Amino acid sequence: MKALRAVFAATTALCAATAANATDLEVTHWWTSGGEAAAVAEFAKAFNATGNNWVDGAIAGSGGTARPIIISRITGGDPMGATQFNHGRQAEELVEAGLMLDLTEIAEEGKWRDIIRPSSLLDSCTVDGRIYCVPVNIHSQQWLWLNNSVFENAGVAVPTNWDEFSAAASKLQESGIVPLAMGQQPWQTTLAFQVILTALAGPEAYTKIFGEKDVDLAGGPELAKVFQAADAARNMAKDSNVQNWNDATTMVITGKAGGQIMGDWAQGEFQVADLVAGEDYTCLPGLGVNEVIMTGGDAFYFPKVDDADITAAQLELAKVMISPETQVAFNLKKGSLPVRGDVDLAAANDCMRKGLDILSQGKIIQSPDQLMSADSLTQVNDLFVEFFNNPDMSAEDAQALFVSIVGNAD
Ligand code: GAL
Repeated sequence: MKALRAVFAATTALCAATAANATDLEVTHWWTSGGEAAAVAEFAKAFNATGNNWVDGAIAGSGGTARPIIISRITGGDPMGATQFNHGRQAEELVEAGLMLDLTEIAEEGKWRDIIRPSSLLDSCTVDGRIYCVPVNIHSQQWLWLNNSVFENAGVAVPTNWDEFSAAASKLQESGIVPLAMGQQPWQTTLAFQVILTALAGPEAYTKIFGEKDVDLAGGPELAKVFQAADAARNMAKDSNVQNWNDATTMVITGKAGGQIMGDWAQGEFQVADLVAGEDYTCLPGLGVNEVIMTGGDAFYFPKVDDADITAAQLELAKVMISPETQVAFNLKKGSLPVRGDVDLAAANDCMRKGLDILSQGKIIQSPDQLMSADSLTQVNDLFVEFFNNPDMSAEDAQALFVSIVGNAD
């Protein structure tokens, strides 16, 4: 009886300890496609293994829809436990307003400065020498995703670059296949245009035009080729009638379309569909012409709250997200590259290896918003969207408008 009582007491103590430590933490993000959900489940699993409880706060739509909701909750006094933003300056004002938890101590403990690469990722988490976010991945936009069997069935070789892809388009169209899948949301159009520009004009021209506002280059023959290619792209995409990026990826996966220009998060969808990189599908970084990547991606921030349990759970989650095991498990599913260079990537697939190789060669370009003011960039992006949606605007007219925007840009 005594023994039984002791067991009972021990069990009660254990339950109490677990209950005291199990903190619910709501985590907001815009990862709602199949591949994204599979990746985010890796975070949830690893966090729950610490005895806490991940409360999923997925917000449907794109980052453009989710970010204003996230920001207004934080500024309106209804903060979540943790939230996604992209690398860069999206949360800068929230940090400056003192609304975000300072992670410097655990960052120092975990030697984040030594392990996170490129260092620019941690720099964008840093304000006045203090660290306010944990970078979780490196995503790049510069990819063309192809369904191999679509080309094989149409009797053409799987393209190895943009020219071969454009040349194969008519063959695909003859068999009722949309050569280029594209979602209708404006960010997808501007992404595709920027990718075509960097791939065909080359990273130096891209940097000179957006950074140095070089109008001669903007109006020259290299850019004329870019606008011609964008003209070809809008023709190849004219029967693509989906909205979301992942619906466009599904067109490629199911063989309704030949390819898609999209960030490497598209790879998460191919993996959920059990397709094998290099066998069933092909990824061409830099459209197979100029292999570069833009080191974008995602970081998590932890809004400050006046509750010691939540703060402890927030710090726990930050540690879990950067741990080697979670970095591998999450990024393999997400299609992105880990932010730490010291993890075991034996399981990396063909496309991840290509990305890692480009990264290790330092073939990295800055994002347009690092090079050009938000106002000027909006004008450029609006032009790209209008060009894609208005077949009456010629490539020459679009280029002339581009030159005048670049000429006035800051
Ligand atoms: C980006 C984000 C990626 C990806 C994509 C589409 O902003 O960095 O992780 O999920 O949106 O949802």
